[in-house]
Amino acid sequence: MSTIQTNPIDGQKPGTSGLRKKTRVFMSPHFLENYVQSIFDGIDGVDGSTLVVGGDGRYFNDRAIQVILRMAAANGAARCIVGQNGILSTPAASHLIRKRGTDGGLILSASHNPGGADEDFGLKYNGPNGGPASDGVTDKIFAKTTEITAYKIIEAKDVALSRLGATTLGDMVVEIIDPVSDYADLMEELFDFNAIGGLFVGGFRMRFDAMHAVTGPYAKEIFENRLEAPMGTVAHGVPSEDFGGGHPDPNPIWAKELMDVMYGEDAPDFGAASDGDGDRNMIVGLGAYVSPSDSLAVLADLAHLAPAYADGLAGIARSMPTSGAADRVAEAKGIEIFETPTGWKFFGNLLDAGRATICGEESAGTGSNHVREKDGLWAVLLWLNILAKTGKSVSELLADHWAKYGRNYYSRHDYEAVDSDAANGLMQALRDQLDDLEGASFGGLAVSHADEFAYDDPVDGSHSESQGIRIFFEGGGRVVFRLSGTGTQGATLRVYLEMLETDPAQLHHDPQDALAPIIAAAQAVAGIEERTGRSAPDVIT
Ligand code: G1P
Ligand code: ZN
Repeated sequence: MSTIQTNPIDGQKPGTSGLRKKTRVFMSPHFLENYVQSIFDGIDGVDGSTLVVGGDGRYFNDRAIQVILRMAAANGAARCIVGQNGILSTPAASHLIRKRGTDGGLILSASHNPGGADEDFGLKYNGPNGGPASDGVTDKIFAKTTEITAYKIIEAKDVALSRLGATTLGDMVVEIIDPVSDYADLMEELFDFNAIGGLFVGGFRMRFDAMHAVTGPYAKEIFENRLEAPMGTVAHGVPSEDFGGGHPDPNPIWAKELMDVMYGEDAPDFGAASDGDGDRNMIVGLGAYVSPSDSLAVLADLAHLAPAYADGLAGIARSMPTSGAADRVAEAKGIEIFETPTGWKFFGNLLDAGRATICGEESAGTGSNHVREKDGLWAVLLWLNILAKTGKSVSELLADHWAKYGRNYYSRHDYEAVDSDAANGLMQALRDQLDDLEGASFGGLAVSHADEFAYDDPVDGSHSESQGIRIFFEGGGRVVFRLSGTGTQGATLRVYLEMLETDPAQLHHDPQDALAPIIAAAQAVAGIEERTGRSAPDVIT
């Protein structure tokens, strides 16, 4: 065992999804080691522990896993359960942590961010419930990064990550497992595979775009093997270190190829995609893109059609910027709705306490109490289960939903790599005028209420502040301003726009058109162009 004198990591607090940095930063001398040791110290050591270890297969995934294993062994861990070739999707890792009753796990991913030597890398610790570390644990890990002076690592040869079975590394057992089978079994328990398989027998056509990322092997096993969808249903299904040079982010911008197929000639009946680490999803029917907020609402409304949710839902949780569509479903069903800060970790307590069954975020994340992460393939399978049971198309289901509940027109405008001072200045200026906004009017839209979102966790009583500035308008419109916590360059300003429409004649417009008055009000109230120098958003979803 060698103990090496070293320097603290550079003082950035891990965000909602662990620590994300340029890959070269993680590869710089002692950086990864410092962070891993800080995690181990921040969770009061791993002596005698069992940990799950795996990642999305991006560049440096395998090298980083070798370091983590040697450090876990040096720190006295009893066992590491590792996905073959270092692969585990984030939801599959969450499931394994829970199923095997481990002390948590380390997940290597920068989610939907591009991969490669010059792109992004990330690492996060998930606790024994399978979910992202709580704020309290993250704070402890961060505190350790500021005081670390040494880390522990053994010298040993690389573990053969391709070989299934158990080996030893020092005194620690390394168990290499098939990353797919436990997860696929879980999906088979939750959903009606006979009904879904029947769709494919009947000629239903689907295209699942794995975006060269981690869900490829999972999707092939589930769709093409177990559900017997035709070979080729899964596109870009071989994970690559740089995701084929793309952004593995399942939205209409980055999954444009899928959008073109779904809106083109001879389109299949159903399209879906997932992100780098498999926790996000995109759903698109024949000529019908489903916004993530609508997806959450439709899934919550019809989840009882799947075996796992046949008894109904305990409650629904959504992140604050997510549209209020799910609230209307919860109200109709007479169940609780929770509005949490952005980031999946806030759902964990509600799921653990049995208060919520289904959760979702506007950023293409949907999931349930089956794991403690959002889950891309889960969302795709629940949609398929609903399609199979109702016999309806995606666009028919959306039209039904809007006719019943009204439509929450929704869009998010992102301004990326904005100067940090300018972005912080914009937020502060909004904060300063909150009290004056009430009653003010922008292009005929009167502000009914404005505040900065704070959250009191109903389960553990913890309090989270400064979670985004909300401006509500008379008639059901809303704009939210928030700075991203996951960007790796400058600041990203997110502007979330929403408008409730209940007039049956007005349910089928383009969201950007329907939202035009709200968009104009958002620009006026925040002075986006004057403060950031940007006349238009970089990404509209
Ligand atoms: C983004 C999303 C958020 C999600 C997070 C992790 O965070 O907006 O909903 O939980 O990625 O996938 P943000 O960059 O907005 O802080
Ligand atoms: Zn992800």
